[in-house]
Amino acid sequence: MSKDSTTEGFSSRVPDCVAESCFEYQGVILSYITPKRAIDAVRNSKVRPDDLYIVTYPKSGTTWAEQLCVLVKGDGEKSTLEGTHIMKLVPFIEICLDHRNPETSPLKMDEVEKMPSPRLLRTHCLPKFLPYDVSTDDPKAKVLYVARNPKDAAVSYYHFCNYVPPLPSYPSWDVFFEEFLAGRVPQGSWFENVLPWWRKRNHPNVLFLKYEDMKKDLPKAVKQIAEFMGKSFTDDVIQKIADASTFKAMKESSSSNPDILIKGRIDEGNKSFMRKGIVGDWKNYFSDDQNKRFDELYNKEMTGSGLEMDFGSP
Ligand code: A3P
Repeated sequence: MSKDSTTEGFSSRVPDCVAESCFEYQGVILSYITPKRAIDAVRNSKVRPDDLYIVTYPKSGTTWAEQLCVLVKGDGEKSTLEGTHIMKLVPFIEICLDHRNPETSPLKMDEVEKMPSPRLLRTHCLPKFLPYDVSTDDPKAKVLYVARNPKDAAVSYYHFCNYVPPLPSYPSWDVFFEEFLAGRVPQGSWFENVLPWWRKRNHPNVLFLKYEDMKKDLPKAVKQIAEFMGKSFTDDVIQKIADASTFKAMKESSSSNPDILIKGRIDEGNKSFMRKGIVGDWKNYFSDDQNKRFDELYNKEMTGSGLEMDFGSP
């Protein structure tokens, strides 16, 4: 075993940065920002029929989807966001407020239970950690699922882990890649997150969108979300929501760019949550060998699913 890794408390070897900041629960690596008691609180929480859960694998466009849902809910009025922040309007349900004291920290779920309806909620939980009435084959609330191709999600996640302290600070892309390939990064495997929702995509309470399609035609995604949320908008309103939700518009907005909340807590120089927002950045990171190994896993896991992801032009 390498001196930079450990198995203590884990079912298989993990890098030191993971051992220091994470634990394993039901075979899934989780950071202390999402302690076991918070995951259990989510799993046992009461679902309201007018809830909308935004469910994603990390770094797949969650914040983008939050922005779109908030604006759709507010009929396209940007004033819905003024003086607040999308991350405050759409709570991240499985976190605790103080990752340094995961056993005693208040949980975000405590606030979520007191929120007035209709609630917009965000989560990266795998189905086995979601509320029972959400993870069922017949979800009792609406679920907007956004999937991003796993290679770009991995690159974005690598940067994010090195940006936000509660997450492990991986010493290199190569180290992160091995953990990602093994499904051993915080919140687990991309395939286990995405595929169950793809299978439920035709359920009336499920809308399955892809990040890459949102990049290609944002007004279309706005329209899909609006219809899903029971709204009927003119083309002008749809365009207004799309214009306020481009990468550039969100990066420049103090109500949408998560840096405003994150940077208050850490000094991270010129790093930004709103990093590149493009399709295909993975090509700048995956070596030929990594790409080959990832493709082998991808082909094995995706065979027969019918789900095709867009990895960008060659
Ligand atoms: P990159 O790191 O590739 O730039 P999440 O919200 O799930 O954490 O996802 C974050 C990723 O979505 C980041 O990707 C971020 O830049 C990107 N993103 C956020 N808003 C976006 C937008 N309006 N358009 C395109 N990408 C966006």
